Amino acid sequence: MDFKPSNYLKQAKIELTSRCNVSCKFCYLKIRNGSVNDISGNDFFSIADRLKELGIANVRLSGGEPFLHRDLQSFIEYLRGNAFRIRIVTNGSLIDEKFLRKFKESIYCYHISFHKKTRRQIKCIELFERLNIKYSLNTIIAQESIGAIDSLFSTVNSLDNMVQWTFLREFPAKGIFNRLRDKDIARFIEKLLEFKNKSKKEIYIGNPFPFCAYFPEKVRKVVEYKCNLFNDSLPSDFTIDFEGYLRPCSIINYRILDFIKFDKKEFREGNKLFNLFRKSLYKTLPDICRSCRYFDKCHSGCRAISEILYGDFSHLDPLANPEKYL
Ligand SMILES: C[S@@+](CC[C@H](N)C(=O)[O-])C[C@H]1O[C@@H](n2cnc3c(N)ncnc32)[C@H](O)[C@@H]1O
Ligand code: SF4
Ligand code: SF4
Repeated sequence: MDFKPSNYLKQAKIELTSRCNVSCKFCYLKIRNGSVNDISGNDFFSIADRLKELGIANVRLSGGEPFLHRDLQSFIEYLRGNAFRIRIVTNGSLIDEKFLRKFKESIYCYHISFHKKTRRQIKCIELFERLNIKYSLNTIIAQESIGAIDSLFSTVNSLDNMVQWTFLREFPAKGIFNRLRDKDIARFIEKLLEFKNKSKKEIYIGNPFPFCAYFPEKVRKVVEYKCNLFNDSLPSDFTIDFEGYLRPCSIINYRILDFIKFDKKEFREGNKLFNLFRKSLYKTLPDICRSCRYFDKCHSGCRAISEILYGDFSHLDPLANPEKYL
């Protein structure tokens, strides 16, 4: 398998703030360097202009909680005026009817976090259903959600406006790594396959998951996402963090360049830097992955988790189980 350089920036996730109104124990922002910050209006508009210059029309607004940013509405109006396709990733707790009505035509999709059925979550989803606005749901794959999966599925399956249900494997937050047990992975994958057969909705795992965590031929049917670091074809969701730096991935503590200040030459340099970073990563991949027939699609699971847990990118993904399944 050869290293293929990438033209890396195709879709940008912009973090509007590091602040949040809730405190999820698993939140990956806890492991990120940087101070508590809201992006300034000027910086945001410069970022949008630069994205436009580069021909990048897909923007995902995230955070922290993007609805905490006091300029969110003017950001949306600016993006809309410049023909961007806008997505918002949110915990859903601060969205109200007035906002949804006002921006009904402006937002391409809302991605609402739905890790368990709380009253707050149900209220938010009911609002979208009542106003007939499309949305998708993100659910962390944890023991708790796997335990409640049948009940979550029957709720989600009955929602008319829910268009895509994405499961997210949990990245380790500071001091916490909830390693999924083999039997939970098995139950989860079997359930997901069952739901995919029963439901017309899009349902899949939306972040890097090693195919050999369970039977690879089954896992590959429910994994949608390729790691940004090795992704040569799909639109890549690169992050511009709340301090204006471009990152290859939301959780890796690696900044490629200052997205607010770069000039065109620097951007080309940034592209080069990114490819150098990928190339050096590629060299450190576990041997077993390099020779694995699933590598092209699996990409060794998650490299960032290897770095967080073991200090470098060379370790096998902790969920991988090649000896058992390959
Ligand atoms: C950091 S949040 C920011 C947006 C918003 N506050 C929310 O929770 O949807 C972006 C997405 O990352 C997910 N997320 C947060 N911590 C995670 C972790 N440790 N592993 C996987 N996904 C995580 C959230 O559930 C959410 O879907
Ligand atoms: S995952 Fe989202 S809602 Fe939860 S603490 Fe992090 S930013 Fe806030
Ligand atoms: S051995 Fe590596 S590349 Fe192959 S399925 Fe497992 S994690 Fe993926």
